[in-house]
Amino acid sequence: ARLVVLVSGSGTNLQALLDACADPAYAAEVVAVGADRDDIEGLARAERAGVPTFVERVRDHTDRAAWDAALADAVAAHRPDLVVLAGFMKLVGPTFLDRFGGRTVNTHPALSPSFPGMRGPADALEYGVKVTGCTLFVVDAGVDTGVIVAQVGVPVEDDDDVETLHERIKTAERAMLVDSVGVMVREGFSVEGRRLRLGGSAS
Ligand code: GRF
Repeated sequence: ARLVVLVSGSGTNLQALLDACADPAYAAEVVAVGADRDDIEGLARAERAGVPTFVERVRDHTDRAAWDAALADAVAAHRPDLVVLAGFMKLVGPTFLDRFGGRTVNTHPALSPSFPGMRGPADALEYGVKVTGCTLFVVDAGVDTGVIVAQVGVPVEDDDDVETLHERIKTAERAMLVDSVGVMVREGFSVEGRRLRLGGSAS
């Protein structure tokens, strides 16, 4: 299966997918990596792996809708079976979702529906939860509200700060992402209501 991965930062989730795809038994390949900004480690990781990259910056477009359409076109050019948002820090809009909704997954460093948005680990730490974690979901029009594919619990240690907690979450997140994407592309999947059903027509 053809994966297009969108990143905005260090790309450790992307790296986990690149490493997994190096194994021929893993039924996917990363055919392109896109970003909303230049000069990030995530793009460097793609280049080192010989994977084509593209950048669509909001400020290069007349408005958000134009950016959303340009992003959708850039992704479509690589004919993805599945789009993976891995640390992508922008909300995709209606044009993107018209084309790739239902086959775009996003990983979030909290246990949805708790702590949506940009500060998941910090919000969990401030709230004082003893267990947080990460969530893989099928992207919908909301903020981290899509149908859940997988979740992994991660303990919060007494001496955690946001960095140590987020690093522990990211360790679980990488494994969750690789395992879940592998199953989804191997078995195919469909979204029915608030449930993801595996099997059926491979995407
Ligand atoms: C991940 O925890 C992702 O869920 C969150 O930011 C982090 C990105 O990490 N949005 P990386 O870019 O994959 O290293």
